[in-house]
Amino acid sequence: MRTKSIGIFDSGIGGLSVFRQVVELLPNESVIYFGDTARVPYGNRDPETIIQYAMECADFLVSQDVKMLVVACNTICAYAFEALQNRFSLPIVGVIDSGLKTLLQTTKNEKVGILGTTATISSGIYPRKIGACNPQIQVHSVATPLFVPLVEEGFIEHKAVDLIVEEYLSALKKENIDSILLACTHYPFLRKVIEKCVGNKIVVKDASEACAIEVSHELVKRGLATTATEAHYLFFVSGEAKKFQKMGEKFLGRNIESIQEVTLP
Ligand code: DGL
Repeated sequence: MRTKSIGIFDSGIGGLSVFRQVVELLPNESVIYFGDTARVPYGNRDPETIIQYAMECADFLVSQDVKMLVVACNTICAYAFEALQNRFSLPIVGVIDSGLKTLLQTTKNEKVGILGTTATISSGIYPRKIGACNPQIQVHSVATPLFVPLVEEGFIEHKAVDLIVEEYLSALKKENIDSILLACTHYPFLRKVIEKCVGNKIVVKDASEACAIEVSHELVKRGLATTATEAHYLFFVSGEAKKFQKMGEKFLGRNIESIQEVTLP
């Protein structure tokens, strides 16, 4: 039996880090993924543009009759999560609360680092939310905007990446933090390089696993979990499908069979 799909979206390929965890945890759930690859990166755009783009992505997925929206983008969550909740009546899960939860469970010395896009870091959403949960926690936030184009272009293992990661993180490494949150869904694809740079005393976490668990809880809570025994995955992008397919297959370690280019209104 075929039921409605979960809709996952991001500015580009980064949301595949969330897609990967969702399909691993919920192998019978069908997923429609949308990546706004023609307009990535979002992370250096102004709030109004981020909100407008977020609405257009979500409208597209809702037009595909999804049963839930998963905002697999910290930048969108930082600026547009409330607006999305106000516009749509279907359940919406975002990565920020999942990342926050993961980070709070990880830190022991209450000194943490947050890596995100310029927009996410300048929104101040993480220090604000962390402070509301535990005001003792010291938060060191670093904007690392070059990571997104590196991932979009498939620069994952390259000495240029090592140098850029080192440049961005050298000051943070001196702050005696014990954990770092990758607060951008593109960054898990650079995890190896980031871990190598910060060494084994700092734990590097991302939101994707906790986000998949949250998706699962929400589906069960709302009686939306599938009864199907087989899942279907459809991918839509606003940019070049071939490029996304090639990179996506490399990241996911599986074939992307159905991918289409769409033009947003
Ligand atoms: N992957 C997105 C995030 O989590 C956005 C990257 C971008 O478009 O700048 O923030």
